[in-house]
This record gives sequence, C-alpha cells and structure tokens, in this order.
Amino acid sequence: MKINVLLSPNNVDDLYFNSKTTVVIDVLRATSVILKALNSGAREVIPVGSIDFAMKISVHAHGGHTLLCGERNTKIIEGFDLGNSPLEYTEERISGKSIILFTTNGSKAIVKAKYSEKLLVASFNNISKVAEHLIKLGNDVEIISSGANGIFCLEDTICAGALIKKMIKMKSDIELTDATNASLVLNEKYGSNIKKMMQNCEHGKLLMENGFEEDIDFCSTVDNIPQIPYYTGGEIKLLVEESKASKKA
Ligand code: MLT
Repeated sequence: MKINVLLSPNNVDDLYFNSKTTVVIDVLRATSVILKALNSGAREVIPVGSIDFAMKISVHAHGGHTLLCGERNTKIIEGFDLGNSPLEYTEERISGKSIILFTTNGSKAIVKAKYSEKLLVASFNNISKVAEHLIKLGNDVEIISSGANGIFCLEDTICAGALIKKMIKMKSDIELTDATNASLVLNEKYGSNIKKMMQNCEHGKLLMENGFEEDIDFCSTVDNIPQIPYYTGGEIKLLVEESKASKKA
C-alpha cells in the first residue's frame, strides 16, 4: 500500500485519477460542509466546478427540493440559497434536499478527481473513520490537499498528515512519497492544536475577518461526525458500510 499527497490539485491532469482511490480534503470549509450537510439529512451533494454550471443545473431542479449553495471569497453568492458555513446546514434547512455546491477550491478538487474508482471526502470531523476505511480497502491512496487557488495551504496538508499518521498506526508497512513525509512532518509541528493552527493560517484569518470564527470551532473538531461521504455518478452521498447495510436488511 502506498500513500501520496497532492499538495495542490492543479499539479495533475483529471485523467491522473483514473482507477485510483482518492481522498479530497478542504477543511476550511468545503469538505467539512459536505459532511455536515449529509449528516443533517441532505439527499445528496452535487459538487460543481463553476457558478455558471451550478445555475444551469438548478434550472432543471423543481419542487423546492434543491438548494443552490456555496461561496465566492468566503461569502454567499448572489441568488444562492446558502453560503459555505457548516453552521447554516441544519436539519431544518437541509433534510431531504439536494445540494448543488460550488466553492472556490473544494468542489472543484472533487470534480477534478471524478474519474477516481473510489472518491472519498475527508475533514477533521471524520478523520478516524476515513483512515479505518482506507486501511480496510487496502488500495494505494491519493490524498488531495485542495489548497487555495492552486497554491499549497497549511490546514489541508496538516489534515492529510493527521490522516496518514492514523493509517500508519493501523498498518506500519505503508510506502510513503516525499509529499506524504512532508505532510507528516507539518502535522507533527502544527497539528497538536488544530484550532490554533486554523486561526493562524491564511484562510483561517480571512474567515475570521469575514465573521466566520465559529466555523473554525466546527471545522477543527475531530471525529464529531463519524461518517464517510463518497462520490459516485456526479453526486456525493454517505457510505453505508456493508456489515451495517446487511444488518439493516
Ligand atoms: C473553498 O472551496 O475554497 C472553500 O471551502 C472556501 C471557504 O468557503 O472558506
């Protein structure tokens, strides 16, 4: 088993992901929001790579079952129903709804990795669950640190490092690339106080300036939503593990 970290999704072409097992991380805030939306009962999240495409597909949505959501420059987009704050995604607003989501980096990273054979969504909120699942799968793994406009960001890379650390604890003979080792080192240096790290990173500072301090509390919480969003056929849903699915049946 080998783990690689892509320090920006822009470093590779879409076809790079063909038949791979991929994990997308955008802890501030897209992947934390996706997990929260599904945990609040959203039917599915449809990630999109542009605002135009979000608008286009929302035209075909009817009956009030679809919400147009996301952000530009951290703020709600004009004409959209919700922004990109996990606190907005309450059961009352979200339950039973389809969420069309555009975000500056996270939704685009998911769309970029669409050819993956398995595509999972991770944040600090579900990190242990994702680590356990990846070890169970036993495949080589590509972890995308979504970054900011094609550039490295600290918070996603530290989450990648924390995820890898958990996996190594469960399986010691994992092959690591240079970027994977770098993520582990960064997690050792900055990962002991996640909230403080988020408050001090560039995007965290911008979120606080724009009044989203409470989002950092949510996004820095570890393992409060032990569920795994996975992408298939253009939609993200919650993974139902086989043992649980067969117990229910
Ligand atoms: C992104 O995809 O860049 C974001 O999640 C930005 C944000 O909403 O803070």
